[in-house]
Amino acid sequence: MRLLECRKCSFLLCLGVVVCSIIYWLISTKPVGKPLQKGEPFCQNKQDTRLTLPKDVGSCIHSSSLSCSNLTTELQFINITLSHEEGNYPLAFIVTIHKELEVFVRMLRAIYMPQNVYCIHVDAKAPKEYQEAVQKLVSCFDNVFLTSRSEKVTYAGFSRLQADLNCMKDLLASPIPWRKVINLCGQDFPVMTNLELVRYMQSKEWRDKNMTPGVKQPATMRHRTLFQHQEIVGSHVAPRVPRHVKTPPPHNLQVYFGTAYYALTRDFVDFVLKSQIAKDFLEWSRDTFSPDEHYWVTLNHIKEAPGSHINGGWEGAIRAIKWRDQEGTAHDGCKGHYLRDICVYGIDDLPWIIEKNSMFANKFESNTFPEALDCLEQWHRTKVLNQATVSIDQSWLPRSKNNSVC
Ligand SMILES: *[C@@H]1O[C@H](CO)[C@@H](O)[C@H](O)[C@H]1NC(C)=O
Ligand SMILES: *[C@@H]1O[C@H](CO)[C@@H](O)[C@H](O)[C@H]1NC(C)=O
Ligand SMILES: *[C@@H]1O[C@H](CO)[C@@H](O)[C@H](O)[C@H]1NC(C)=O
Repeated sequence: MRLLECRKCSFLLCLGVVVCSIIYWLISTKPVGKPLQKGEPFCQNKQDTRLTLPKDVGSCIHSSSLSCSNLTTELQFINITLSHEEGNYPLAFIVTIHKELEVFVRMLRAIYMPQNVYCIHVDAKAPKEYQEAVQKLVSCFDNVFLTSRSEKVTYAGFSRLQADLNCMKDLLASPIPWRKVINLCGQDFPVMTNLELVRYMQSKEWRDKNMTPGVKQPATMRHRTLFQHQEIVGSHVAPRVPRHVKTPPPHNLQVYFGTAYYALTRDFVDFVLKSQIAKDFLEWSRDTFSPDEHYWVTLNHIKEAPGSHINGGWEGAIRAIKWRDQEGTAHDGCKGHYLRDICVYGIDDLPWIIEKNSMFANKFESNTFPEALDCLEQWHRTKVLNQATVSIDQSWLPRSKNNSVC
């Protein structure tokens, strides 16, 4: 009898495996997304009209003959709230940057709205001229500021997490009543408009909830928090030699693993900076590998945390990223080039990015594939202006005239 049952279950198991394989085959051979043709451009037909940037953004910003209002007009910043809906829901942004002034200026002018607030963290290692240019530009706005404390940021290090925390502290002190905070790095660019972000943040699924895509720490990531690591400041993070096993996480926390990107409520940020659990977990995370990929998502799975998402997984359209190992499944290959297994987008990646409609897309570079950023920027600005409920200032329009004052 038992033998028979066992045979039955082996048969069922086999059947299951066969059915799953067929389903997997069907899914994996189905083309990803709507196949968009090369001849279905988003901006190529209007190549002569685009958002303009002076040839040398740095020297334009430094030019002492330009007042702030000349400069921000020249750089085509939008200076009026485009709808009540957006005015009633100010957003906060944390932007961590270290290079490529031009990409930063383009990203900032795409996400900038006068009702929002922006904390910029410039890597303390960045060249002095770069830091000064950012400082000068930022000083032209009441609602954009440099963080009060800059870190020397190390890839995968605790300093990366500390940079965000420094900005959070500053943002809580800001008089602007922001509702959610979103973090960005210098190679991100928005896909959604500010209005779309506001609507997404207020949707039934995300209203008053934090978005921190991630899952229980998989075994392959265990080493990151099992062993002590050392941050070689400004260089890299390495396991201690010989191996030192860490104590288990405080408060019996289950460690999660996810993206370093988030959208968090103001109450959650307050909890992060003030609660004993968050403080203890931060201390414990100091000698782990890439703590920004476990800190936010772990705290967001605690019942007591405001807006937590304790049953949450990878949900949330936080970033469109083409990972090399998802080629053929999540996307159809990188049309630019891979950098550390992440696609730096080329112009032919745009149909995929636009169809995916995440909040932001990553990564962009202006020196390798400038036309991808040009095109997305123009497409995004056109969408922003089409959604506006106030009259449009001519200076915000993509234009063909090269009337640079720099
Ligand atoms: C700056 O703006 C003012 C007023 O719009 C204008 O009169 C002036 O010519 C501008 N300066 C430069 C250098 O473009
Ligand atoms: C916005 O910018 C335009 C163009 O520079 C300027 O004419 C206008 O006065 C500005 N409006 C506000 C509210 O600052
Ligand atoms: C734009 O202006 C710059 C400097 O003012 C000039 O060097 C360049 O040739 C101009 N480009 C076009 C397309 O007119």
